[in-house]
Amino acid sequence: MGQKVFYVTTPIYYPSDRLHIGHALTTTMADTLARYKRMRGYDVFFLTGSDEHGQKIQRKAREAGLEPQAYVDRIVATFKELWRRLDISYDDFIRTTEERHKKVVQELFRRIYEKGDIYKSQYEGWYCTPCETFFTERQLKDGNCPDCGRPVELVKEESYFFRMSKYADRLLKYIEEHPEFIQPPSRRNEMINFIKGGLEDLCISRTTFDWGIPVPIDPKHVIYVWFDALTNYISALGYGTDDESLFKKFWPAAVHLVGKDIVRFHTVIWPTILMSAGIELPKKVFGHGWLLVEGGKMSKSKGNVVDPMLLIDRYGSDAIRYFLLREMPYGADGYYSEEALIQRYNSDLANDYGNLLNRTVAMIEKFCDGVIPEPSEENELDRELKGVAERVPEEVEQALENFEFARALSSIWQLIGRANKYIEETAPWALAREPEKRPRLNTVLYNLAESIRQATVLCSPFMPGVPPRVWEQLGIQDDAHIHTWDSLKTWGGIPPGRRVKRGAPLFPRIEAGKEEDNVAETVQVDAGQRKEEITIEEFSRLELKVAEVIAAERVPQTDKLLKLEVNLGTERRTVVAGVAQHYRPEDLVGKKVVMVANLKPAKLRGIVSQGMVLAAVEGDKLTLIVPEGDVSPGAQVR
Ligand code: ME8
Ligand code: MG
Repeated sequence: MGQKVFYVTTPIYYPSDRLHIGHALTTTMADTLARYKRMRGYDVFFLTGSDEHGQKIQRKAREAGLEPQAYVDRIVATFKELWRRLDISYDDFIRTTEERHKKVVQELFRRIYEKGDIYKSQYEGWYCTPCETFFTERQLKDGNCPDCGRPVELVKEESYFFRMSKYADRLLKYIEEHPEFIQPPSRRNEMINFIKGGLEDLCISRTTFDWGIPVPIDPKHVIYVWFDALTNYISALGYGTDDESLFKKFWPAAVHLVGKDIVRFHTVIWPTILMSAGIELPKKVFGHGWLLVEGGKMSKSKGNVVDPMLLIDRYGSDAIRYFLLREMPYGADGYYSEEALIQRYNSDLANDYGNLLNRTVAMIEKFCDGVIPEPSEENELDRELKGVAERVPEEVEQALENFEFARALSSIWQLIGRANKYIEETAPWALAREPEKRPRLNTVLYNLAESIRQATVLCSPFMPGVPPRVWEQLGIQDDAHIHTWDSLKTWGGIPPGRRVKRGAPLFPRIEAGKEEDNVAETVQVDAGQRKEEITIEEFSRLELKVAEVIAAERVPQTDKLLKLEVNLGTERRTVVAGVAQHYRPEDLVGKKVVMVANLKPAKLRGIVSQGMVLAAVEGDKLTLIVPEGDVSPGAQVR
């Protein structure tokens, strides 16, 4: 068997303007997949590039007083700079103005022409220049472009046409027989409906401008930009040239990643061109949603374009990548705002992840002279932590196979969250005070370092800048074999004895950090664990009510529990509450409290507790939550 291959592409972007954060989304997704597959042993080909022809670019260049080539050269340089800053590991960058590309486009045109699928006719229709798309009268929306809403131009000219209509049935059948071809399923259904509405032949040449690839049989025509652009996916592989080795190795593409705006071009026009040319179809087209900003879609005219370069300067490439991948819901639109970015940054990256590393390294320095200790016997808590570490890689693998980046990250954060909770549960600083607990302390600190190692391996495809910094702090920078995906299979990869080295915080908090430099504090201060965000619908599943305590007594043989009888307005309930160290039974009778009324009943010390009373907890202090004014038992709390 040959090596497993994985070919992933991004759209080739128009160099009509600089790229914005929405473009960075697709490319970051593709990069994450490429890095992940490389870690899994695939031979990866990751292609991106620029789509440089067409009327719009010709106009833009003229406005800038430049030749089109000079104009696109400048802008393409900014693309490459952005991808460098964002740690994009593309294997090739294809420009449609390159000779290697033009030759293939012409060759493909020729082959389809020779097959009889291209003919000359008179074109009459509407053209949207910004979208570089033709529309029939019927397709227009209020006389404007149905995609972008801008005015269209009436075009009447002699043109070459591709017999797309001929392939409609075959395409429909293909899509129906290959449910995995268009993802997510909502886009697939859209496309099925679109094709069922009927396919017309496609106009594939223009004569009204000349910034394009000449039609090989009729050079006063240039080839329609979408025919030109889509061909990049095979021109970069040398299709139809003397050296087809890359094409033979990598085609068909594992996935074309695109935004939902161009799914139709990739799942209707592109496959029918390929069918005509007798080329296999790509295995998958994945259409992600849009990243929206306040005011909707980003656009120059609205003045709401977010420049990724500025964000990278301010927050670093890893944080931007994390935000994009974590915040986009699967298959749907997501939102960008700087507040949301800072919020994610502080809670997930600075607090959960960065602080976990920081606290762990600080404790190993303080309690173990900076040397990762040898673990000893394990208990239930350790097994629980390991259990999470065991299941997370598989969840991440599945999520990535489905392009569910947010789910993959939230799964990794379950491990990180579990490790943070483990610190609270095991309280290493308390273990350190008792010399006979030394073996236990060693186990705990070892397990923390190992959890961080595993979480960091899992994070590598998403945030490639992070692992080297973590390896450095854990003193395992030279242990390459425990940086691999395979190393996740076994717990205990870190060789005890490695010397940790505190470094700068991985993600310094955005509002000036206070405690980073104080070992004692960072070790003991609860990082204020944040939980995962929930929706209002999720919140509304809680039934919170005011309850009046009518009777209270201690639960025998415990020093924490009180058994309460409460009046919930329409019913009475028994509740067991862990408040006996803070309230005497007689203090509570007559008090109104807040209760979770729809909590699944649980048996505590033989008593069925039918709810939970809410309290604020601060260190050792516990204070019941009571209504501020006079309310009746049973009143809803929301
Ligand atoms: O369409 N949210 O190029 P383009 C998410 N040249 N993704 C976004 C986005 C947003 N707000 N804005 C842009 C073209 N994108 C053609 C492609 S391919 C053979 C030719 C991303 O510069 C998304 O991937 O207009 C979208 O499909 C692409 O940029 C459009 O880039
Ligand atoms: Mg566009």
